[in-house]
Amino acid sequence: MLALAIETSCDDTAAAVVDTDLHVHSSVIESSIDQHRAFGGVVPELAGRAHLTTVGPVVRRALLDAGLDPHAPAIDVVAVTSGPGLIGSLLIGLSAAKAYALAWGKPFVGVNHLEGHLFAPLLEQPNLEWPMVTLLVSGGHSMIVLQHGPGQHEVLGETIDDAAGEAYDKVARWLGLPYPGGPEIDRLAATGDAKALKLPVSMTGEDFDFSFSGLKTAVVRATEKQADVALADVAASFQAAVAEQLLRKLRRVLEGRDVKGVALAGGVAANSALRVGVSELAASFGVPAYLPTLKMCTDNAAMIGAAGLYRFATDGASTFDLSARPNWPLADVL
Ligand code: KG4
Ligand code: ZN
Repeated sequence: MLALAIETSCDDTAAAVVDTDLHVHSSVIESSIDQHRAFGGVVPELAGRAHLTTVGPVVRRALLDAGLDPHAPAIDVVAVTSGPGLIGSLLIGLSAAKAYALAWGKPFVGVNHLEGHLFAPLLEQPNLEWPMVTLLVSGGHSMIVLQHGPGQHEVLGETIDDAAGEAYDKVARWLGLPYPGGPEIDRLAATGDAKALKLPVSMTGEDFDFSFSGLKTAVVRATEKQADVALADVAASFQAAVAEQLLRKLRRVLEGRDVKGVALAGGVAANSALRVGVSELAASFGVPAYLPTLKMCTDNAAMIGAAGLYRFATDGASTFDLSARPNWPLADVL
């Protein structure tokens, strides 16, 4: 079975063609990030307008790259992100997907963006072992998910305030770095001293929840007090504190549950400290670490196609009255 997938939940307009064996036939991504940089974050109206002009050409390119006829493609289903995300962005992708499905006489299926991220490691590692624990960290979400099989998720914990990527972006903004701040801080941290600033490690309790808001405030306070501290040292200290909190919770899962692997997903999975930390943690428990390539960590439509094919097979097609759900929790997908 072949899916055309469309993803427009934030600032990336993406389309991909994926089959049931999770082979990616094509994957196209157009970002409107350059339009948002001057504002220090994604401007929802600009993102929506960009999707409207870009989605058609991106879908066409994905179909052509996959060797399909862009006017009557031999696909079986149209998969589309229907939440969570920016409402104006989601509506463009969802409307486009419905239009294609109607025009071509194909079924369509609405996909949860977070479930899409959870399928990303599967696209590159076909022989995953279950159950596995996935740390899903992006600009909008941070959670630890126990996956008993494809599409079978148990959310163990999540952030009680900011998402990890959001904390990166806010601290970067405070430091005067361009948006998105995650890659900038990661790059600077490589040459900094992680012990330069004394930062608190939040959420040391027994649960699996996170908190990054206090850490962000602590960075602001510390840099106000110590105005001459090098940018690279701030970046390294902050990065170490984020990684320590995330890895501490992951370690607790590995100690308490019989998991066969550890996966990273979401945009922050591109972070070098986290990738090294998860590899080392998994090795110390004798299980594999599944680290998607950078292009599979950040938003893309291939992961939406994979999740969409699974949902289509288990739950069937969506109906044409499906609405976008900007706050659709992962726990509601099952
Ligand atoms: O998954 P994603 O592409 O979009 C959302 O669904 O949110 O994640 C984007 C987030 C941004 O906050 C960005 O700063 C962060 O991922 N990010 C990073 C790195 N690369 C991207 N954070 C830390 N280190 C990185 N190398
Ligand atoms: Zn995402």
